[in-house]
Amino acid sequence: MESKITVRNKIEVSNLDLYYGKFQALISVNMSIQQNMITALIGPSGCGKSTLLRCLNRMNDLIHGVKITGEVLLDGTDIYHSTMEVTGLRTRVGMVFQRPNPFPLTIYDNVVYGLRVAGIRNKKESDEIAEKSLKGAWLWDQVKDKLDHSALELPLDQQQRLCIARLLAVKPEVILMDEPCSALDPIATMKIEELMLDLKKDYTITIVTHNMQQASRVSDYTGYMLLGEMIEFSDTKIIFTRPSKKLTEDYISGKYG
Ligand SMILES: Nc1ncnc2c1ncn2[C@@H]1O[C@H](COP(=O)(O)OP(=O)(O)OP(=O)(O)O)[C@@H](O)[C@H]1O
Ligand SMILES: [Mg+2]
Repeated sequence: MESKITVRNKIEVSNLDLYYGKFQALISVNMSIQQNMITALIGPSGCGKSTLLRCLNRMNDLIHGVKITGEVLLDGTDIYHSTMEVTGLRTRVGMVFQRPNPFPLTIYDNVVYGLRVAGIRNKKESDEIAEKSLKGAWLWDQVKDKLDHSALELPLDQQQRLCIARLLAVKPEVILMDEPCSALDPIATMKIEELMLDLKKDYTITIVTHNMQQASRVSDYTGYMLLGEMIEFSDTKIIFTRPSKKLTEDYISGKYG
């Protein structure tokens, strides 16, 4: 039997404009995020990468004076529609930040945090989910004997993987990562990159990175942004070998940024 790989748009961004007060930070951005793929957003500082990423789970709603027009569809549903339930959305589309931000709680309580919020208190169920999530984030072996220790005692890279485990526990569909390795050393960075490649079997990942080698190593698709515009969005291989825009070529060849 012939096997067919189906490519599916998990998220579709159309004509997205975002204003911080009078300043327009995103200008008519279009992009498609495909399911079970890693999409990287690159571009010089201030071009709007984090702003665009935050639009995908409505994190910008928390910033005063933000105005957004255009469309962001998740599985075909407009996440900016008035009927969208934002807490549920942020569970489906979770975020990992630049600096690991575990809560000042035990390792275990960090992982099950989202379950508690969702009202799940059953010990057996929580234990199972905690173990599965920590395994999924490649952290189980390191922490299984000290789940009652403070998360803040962990080295930074393990804190970052704990934050990933905390997301996995609530079963997200999409994981957004905003420069998740920028606080980490090269070895810890490689580990997160390998983890991302493992996670994409089950999740759709979008990563913002300053590190072009990282984008070319881990991502399937890359968007190059400049001054709020999506200059070019394409297959990662194409972006890094034969981009169609001169601006992209200048950036990836290190002429500026
Ligand atoms: N809360 C805010 N209020 C006003 N302007 C903002 C806010 N956040 C970001 N901006 C502006 O929007 C533009 C895009 O910022 P953003 O943080 O999205 O860029 P970035 O590509 O993630 O940059 P970096 O690589 O430095 O993280 C910048 O000009 C920035 O100054
Ligand atoms: Mg940023």
